[in-house]
Amino acid sequence: MALAHRQLGALPKQIPSESLIPEQSLGDLIGISQVMQKVYALIHRVSQFRFPVLILGESGTGKELVARAIHSESQRRLCPFVPVDCGTLVPALIESELFGHMKGAFTGATDNKRGLLETAKGGTLFLDEIGELHLGMQVKLLRAIQEQEIRPVGANALIRTDVRIIAATNCDLEKAVRAGAFRQDLYFRLNIVQIKLSPLRNRREDIPQLIGLFLERFADLQPSIHGISEEATRRLTAYEWPGNVRELENAIEHALALGSGSMIEVCDLPSSIQSDSLVEIADEKEPLSLRVLERRAIYRALTQTNGDVVAAARILCMGKTTMYRKLKEYGVKRNGGPTGRISD
Ligand SMILES: Nc1ncnc2c1ncn2[C@@H]1O[C@H](COP(=O)(O)OP(=O)(O)OP(=O)(O)O)[C@@H](O)[C@H]1O
Ligand SMILES: [Mg+2]
Repeated sequence: MALAHRQLGALPKQIPSESLIPEQSLGDLIGISQVMQKVYALIHRVSQFRFPVLILGESGTGKELVARAIHSESQRRLCPFVPVDCGTLVPALIESELFGHMKGAFTGATDNKRGLLETAKGGTLFLDEIGELHLGMQVKLLRAIQEQEIRPVGANALIRTDVRIIAATNCDLEKAVRAGAFRQDLYFRLNIVQIKLSPLRNRREDIPQLIGLFLERFADLQPSIHGISEEATRRLTAYEWPGNVRELENAIEHALALGSGSMIEVCDLPSSIQSDSLVEIADEKEPLSLRVLERRAIYRALTQTNGDVVAAARILCMGKTTMYRKLKEYGVKRNGGPTGRISD
């Protein structure tokens, strides 16, 4: 069955349609591309309402910055913005983390504890990596969003909540719904408005502005460096950026930390960028799919780190959970050795 899918720009009827105002930044987000301007316009519009927002995009595309911008543009800005990484919450403690608990509710519950849904009262709860939340918690979360009340673990009484929910994921939630790993009713509840962030390789016009931002951000690392050479900028603009803006940020930090001249040169860039430019890829005889490129990058990072998955994930600017999922998906062994073949 086809799932309801509200893409960027297709908003519920009650949202007034206004013309797009060209902007180069919003909150901590920058970017002059058309797609980023649509994102800014959407942030302005959804921030006036309290319905849930679902933010989609590859790792490092700025999902958390978008969530923060929605919060700071809204009337809730003076109340807390509470981020929760659903991928790292310990399953046994997740209910108590979100809903709180009463003293004595379980072994180790020595005091009453407020849950994150209560901590975020009047503000925004940002549920990052929502696709990682296990099914049992999905039911309870859906109830909490619908009823706007929660029952802390071990409590008899319900507590009213007033929280705006923003969820984000880099996985395909519709696929997860079809596979039975994500509840369809929760998906529908969260997917009132969807903001989809483009990968950096699809908005290369934003790269020079982002380079400028990160040069300023890390200027203290090497005050003798005053800029970046044309060739280095060309390489950065041509690179595929599997880790998106976060990888670009890390690359500039790396170049500033290790550079020695007055400008960042190609040789100061991380080795993956020096060699992996589109120029090299263009020389390949066979067509390359993004899956193959990603698998190669994972394979190489694991080889460089002697199979240390966490260190390899860091090189790739990828979350640990995502890395383990990709290893399984691509059949790559921890020592970097492939166990299967990826079809293009
Ligand atoms: N448009 C942007 N302008 C400025 N900085 C950005 C932009 N997009 C991302 N960044 C920076 O890139 C880094 C990653 O951003 P963020 O954490 O929001 O990404 P994400 O999509 O939540 O990634 P993940 O899926 O891995 O959690 C942050 O340091 C953020 O400041
Ligand atoms: Mg994030």
